[in-house]
Amino acid sequence: MCGIVGYFGKRKASEILVDGLRRMEYRGYDSAGIACLFDGQIGLVKNAGKIKDLRAGVNASTDASILNATLGIGHTRWATHGPPNELNAHPHLDASGHFAMVHNGIIENYKEVRNGLAQHGVECISDTDSEVLIQLIGYCYQGNLEDAVSEALKKIKGTYGIVVMTDHEPGKLVTARCGSPIVLGIGKDETLVASDASAIIPHTRDAVYLEDFDMAVITDDGVEMLDLQHAPINREVTAMDWEEGAAEKGDYAHFMLKEMFEQPDAIGNAIRGRLDFDMGTAVLSGLDFSPRETALIGRVLVVGCGTSMHAGMVGEYAIEEMAGIPSEVEQAAEFRYRNPIITPTDLVVAISQSGETADTLAAVREAKHKGAIVSGLCNVVGSTIARETGRGVYLHAGPEIGVASTKAFTCQVSVMLMMALKLARTRRMPRHEGEELCGWIERMPELVEKVLTQNDAIKAVAQKYAQCEDTFFIGRGYLFPVALEGALKLKEISYIHAEGYHAAELKHGPIALLQENTPVVALLNNIPGKDKTLGNAEECKARNAPVIAVVSEGDEGVADGFDDVIVVPDCPPCITPVPTVVALQLLAYHIAAARGCEIDQPRNLAKSVTVE
Ligand code: F6R
Repeated sequence: MCGIVGYFGKRKASEILVDGLRRMEYRGYDSAGIACLFDGQIGLVKNAGKIKDLRAGVNASTDASILNATLGIGHTRWATHGPPNELNAHPHLDASGHFAMVHNGIIENYKEVRNGLAQHGVECISDTDSEVLIQLIGYCYQGNLEDAVSEALKKIKGTYGIVVMTDHEPGKLVTARCGSPIVLGIGKDETLVASDASAIIPHTRDAVYLEDFDMAVITDDGVEMLDLQHAPINREVTAMDWEEGAAEKGDYAHFMLKEMFEQPDAIGNAIRGRLDFDMGTAVLSGLDFSPRETALIGRVLVVGCGTSMHAGMVGEYAIEEMAGIPSEVEQAAEFRYRNPIITPTDLVVAISQSGETADTLAAVREAKHKGAIVSGLCNVVGSTIARETGRGVYLHAGPEIGVASTKAFTCQVSVMLMMALKLARTRRMPRHEGEELCGWIERMPELVEKVLTQNDAIKAVAQKYAQCEDTFFIGRGYLFPVALEGALKLKEISYIHAEGYHAAELKHGPIALLQENTPVVALLNNIPGKDKTLGNAEECKARNAPVIAVVSEGDEGVADGFDDVIVVPDCPPCITPVPTVVALQLLAYHIAAARGCEIDQPRNLAKSVTVE
């Protein structure tokens, strides 16, 4: 969602800020702005629309602050309170014009605070919840910015990641967080602040992650870390291990395409060093339970949202099938609010690419509060869920910039399978079976590579269906979550209405919608239940719906009589989701491309959903 960047150093702030915002464009936004401080004056440029428009505004500016400042703040806004327009765009100034702030998160009691300010003659001018905070900071100011910030923060309820500056103290930036990530980049003679490491990575690899209720005061003397009571705190500097260019799209038309093609390497990284062929098991250092502790795990609850939840479903099936441990997957928001029953022998696994999804984070807190063993499965290193769960497993998929999640899903499934294997080997799975599964997991990059070589064939199928407006994806068993994920991919980037259904469920209502322009993608791979799904696909065909059959290599005959066929490598049922989903990702991508959609930044979507 929204992106924050701040710069304090010796270089031209406006350039670094706009470039930082460009690097965070993938998060989803609808307006942007920067404020720079020079010679006791704050200069502001902001607009509704894209970073290229902001850049044009900055380039055209004759404001001395924008031209000369070496200190400033910037923001990309994903509208929550009030439409995306210039007034609602950040940075916001207070009524005096002496204070500027960028804010991520939601101020829940903003109406109450706004009314309170009005009683003291301070009027807000925007529709946003954020503006009340900078008005409050301005109101609380008595000569020291960090005092005013902490005073104001004590009066608000909600979540925030903020960066604030004032022309009363021109050599200072103050940043603070509660629920919205803030990372500091410590460079030579400069400090950057951002909500996302991608804005910092070109300048430095040394990062300090703020924790909730931390505040950092950045001056020429360096960075001072404080809590909201102003007691000094220590946060260690960690090295960010992104490869150069990892967050650039290179020669690919879109990040999504690049990330789909990165999957063999990404999965390779996710499994590297984690398979123990001798013992036929997986070694996940974040899940360092002894065999005895593992044997005591009574149930595995998996929580997540969207694509991550779909990966969790594959994990649920694998854990039950292989380890014989009862397992359930639940949408994280539902889990957090329905007062789930949790026992001390429950293992709760939170899956999140970003590690910042608000509902998944809240589910983690609820599970911890109720005494469960909690583990996080995240991609973004240092993210809140990764840090709060402690006992976590990183995906090592590298930065995922395309809003539609691709390589994170296949890496999440890879890690879930290794987790199931580890649990299974301490229960009922014999060593030789474990060894065989290790072999299949190790082959997953090669299976995905095979699907990617069919890019052109899948593109040809996609072009046939690019103009449809409704689609169904059906599957059973391990392919049911893949049907859900295939439909999610298509709807989010092509805006075609797509529904993922259990193949058996189609007859219980949705079949009424089928007609000659409603294609059905039927997942007919060679796994238990194939014949039943085949029958369901025939029922669709009998209602004139075109059927795109996804089948296993060597079993192409299954597709006879259907309209199109996509062939994926034959592999054991638990492995099938990985190559199959890659075929569906490519299908969705090429349909969206044929429709001329904005693939990397689909309308209304954000990469990291940090509000409920
Ligand atoms: C879909 C997609 C979303 C995310 C969901 C959870 O392509 O990306 O459905 O999977 O918002 O995000 P994370 O995994 O960051 O918790």
